[in-house]
Amino acid sequence: MLKVENLEKNFGTIKAVDGISFEVRKGEVFGLLGPNGAGKSTTISVISTLLPPSGGVILFEGKDIFADPKAIQRKLGVVPQDIALYPTLSGYENLSFWGNLYGLSGGELKKRIDEVCEIIGLNGRIKDRVDKYSGGMKRRLNIGAALLHMPELLIMDEPTVGIDPQSRNHILDTVLALSRQGMTIIYTSHYMEEVEYLCSRICIMDQGRIIASGSKDELVEMISGKTMIGLQMESIDQELLNSLGSMEGIDRIEQQENQIQIRCENADLILADIIARVTASGNHLRSVAVKKPNLEAVFLHLTGKALRD
Ligand SMILES: Nc1ncnc2c1ncn2[C@@H]1O[C@H](COP(=O)(O)OP(=O)(O)OP(=O)(O)O)[C@@H](O)[C@H]1O
Ligand SMILES: [Mg+2]
Repeated sequence: MLKVENLEKNFGTIKAVDGISFEVRKGEVFGLLGPNGAGKSTTISVISTLLPPSGGVILFEGKDIFADPKAIQRKLGVVPQDIALYPTLSGYENLSFWGNLYGLSGGELKKRIDEVCEIIGLNGRIKDRVDKYSGGMKRRLNIGAALLHMPELLIMDEPTVGIDPQSRNHILDTVLALSRQGMTIIYTSHYMEEVEYLCSRICIMDQGRIIASGSKDELVEMISGKTMIGLQMESIDQELLNSLGSMEGIDRIEQQENQIQIRCENADLILADIIARVTASGNHLRSVAVKKPNLEAVFLHLTGKALRD
């Protein structure tokens, strides 16, 4: 449905998007996962034809999107990261405004607004002014605005940042429900658990590049058989790091402030020895956690840093 080939976007000397390629298939929920500044919003702005690319091609159903941007805009629904609503108007009036922009009016507009209110669960409050809404309700209204013209492809840019858990769950359920009805969705986030939950395929972005892509299982397979041992310490000295570094059966050791992350094949074989070395070093241990690999671990493995720093 959507094919992105060698996309580049520079802002002066900043390479916000640095030659990325991916394909979104009809009917899937496609995840774009990456930390702050990875280039997710820039990628979305170019796909939405709001920004011209510095290089590369984007094809929607085989056609270059910049050949006829208006035609593409009708097929896309974009939920921007920054909320775009009129605070002094009601939810209903905001939806009317967006509906008019998409060319909807009269009975058709009213019908679509009613349907959208049902989807986003704002029925009871839709006549209230938007400045009386919670952050989560505003986000839901923003999603509603992108759904009015029944887009074929819905692009959501971090739609759950900074909202209450109830609204967050509602949004995640909405994404799944829309997907079940056949809508294709690009879901951008830096919460790996959301992407794990929603997406059939995932691209992990960092510093303008795609560092890994595939299904969740394929990504986790990249570090299969590896287990992470996390040690939370009172303090860490070089002697302890040297001692752990000399052990057999350890792939990699990372230190972040008072935490040590150890990647190994089999925690059972080495955990007792690790704890003995920590105790002998005189550095106090606060807690130990043994984790099976997840997307967070994949990201750590590929970049050497945590997703949420
Ligand atoms: N209009 C702009 N002018 C200059 N630099 C920009 C502009 N927009 C984005 N950038 C830079 O491009 C890089 C990628 O930014 P982008 O907003 O695409 O990241 P992101 O993955 O969406 O991050 P976040 O999770 O914080 O939203 C950053 O270094 C950012 O500072
Ligand atoms: Mg962004």
